[in-house]
Amino acid sequence: MPEPIEVDVARRGADSIDREVFGTRAGFILAAVGSAVGLGNMWRFPYVASEGGGAAFVVLYIGLTLVIGIPIMLAEFAAGRRGRLSPIGAIRKVGGSKWLPMGFMYVLSGILILSYYSVIAGWTIRYAIEAMLSGFPADPVAHFDAISTGLPAIVYHLAFMAATIGIVMVGVEKGIEKASMVLMPALFFILLGLACWAATLDGASEGYAFYLRPSMDELLDLDVFSNAAGQAFFSLSLGMGAMLTFASYLSKHENLAREATIISFADFGVAFIAGLVVFPVIAALGLQDQVGESAMGALFISLPGAFEAMGTAGRVVGILFFLALMVGAITSAISLLEVVVSSMIDEFKLARKTAAIIAGSVITVIGIFPATNLDILGVMDAVAGEFFLVLGALGIAILVGWVMENPAEELLDGASPAFSKAVPVVLFFLRWVVPAILLLVVWNKAGGALAAIQALGGGS
Ligand code: TRP
Repeated sequence: MPEPIEVDVARRGADSIDREVFGTRAGFILAAVGSAVGLGNMWRFPYVASEGGGAAFVVLYIGLTLVIGIPIMLAEFAAGRRGRLSPIGAIRKVGGSKWLPMGFMYVLSGILILSYYSVIAGWTIRYAIEAMLSGFPADPVAHFDAISTGLPAIVYHLAFMAATIGIVMVGVEKGIEKASMVLMPALFFILLGLACWAATLDGASEGYAFYLRPSMDELLDLDVFSNAAGQAFFSLSLGMGAMLTFASYLSKHENLAREATIISFADFGVAFIAGLVVFPVIAALGLQDQVGESAMGALFISLPGAFEAMGTAGRVVGILFFLALMVGAITSAISLLEVVVSSMIDEFKLARKTAAIIAGSVITVIGIFPATNLDILGVMDAVAGEFFLVLGALGIAILVGWVMENPAEELLDGASPAFSKAVPVVLFFLRWVVPAILLLVVWNKAGGALAAIQALGGGS
């Protein structure tokens, strides 16, 4: 029985001998699930789903998770474990210097996404604290307007970034792994409890119907399709090297396909359960119109309103909900910051603490812009959260499918016999199916990003 760390050191070569590794398999999976599960599942999924016709979106989202999500995750795992470096270094190693711009795009995506993600996470912290201290607001629309931008938003954004920076400073095993091991199971059980409670509401069935009954023409709508693809990448933390970075801390014994499957199903499961909480609540309280209007604030307007209307029980449930959301947000933010920090460690040979403070401060400052204006937040999400991610996913599919030397070997390391047989299928998908689908989506999302930028320039 070889000692995993020794094997790794031998393979890694001298300059990365002290690269950290995950202590346990569960630690890796929980950190990756922690990255995947976050505001994307509970804030973004329900509102994107309600924009694009509910159940049709859900069906496409499941299909795309399986057909392109899992292959892309495997591609990131393979490149990360082969490269044993953060995105920039790993991509250079696997594809040569021509591919460096993609590495830089990954780091830029991490910086931009975290800077607005943190603003939304800040709202979450505020709602959790306020609910504990004084309950939910009587007029949720006015309250959201008052706290979502400006100084109140900036203060909570700072608090959230401080927590994220703190955990990343401590490192992979003691910081990221330990935090995820406790926080992720907690989040899951809270959400499950909430879904049971939501089922008891009057009018819940109407919410389920909207959520779960597909309509044929929306299934064929390119915008709905692209939204589902974009949401799948955002939710699975794909397309910007987060999973790649985690895999760089992984030993050769890990069964990549099994882990990718577990992570994807866990992420889908949480999004799906979040839908089982959010849609019945929205329907039970007749909030459909409000949610349709203010997509960004949907969750932060509809749910507090619901909790407020339900008295003491609502307050308890609401506190739990926002705590769970906060937990999901922080484990995701960790992975976004880790992409930037690990790149700085590898490229500039900085100490982890120094890198975390520098990167975290830059991101904190950039986040002040989306914290002052929700239109800016929307543009950043359209550009970095959608367009960059689909482009980054297309890039990694091509890199691993066509350029990387012997990707099959990397995928086979640690694979079970059953998956070993599926490796050619995965590679076929990465070479042909995924790029074909993604070209379409990239085109659609480029249009979306441009339109968002133009609207910002012309509209306000
Ligand atoms: N997946 C996370 C969520 O659903 C957000 C996130 C974390 C992310 N890391 C990422 C999104 C990397 C895209 C890329 O909330």
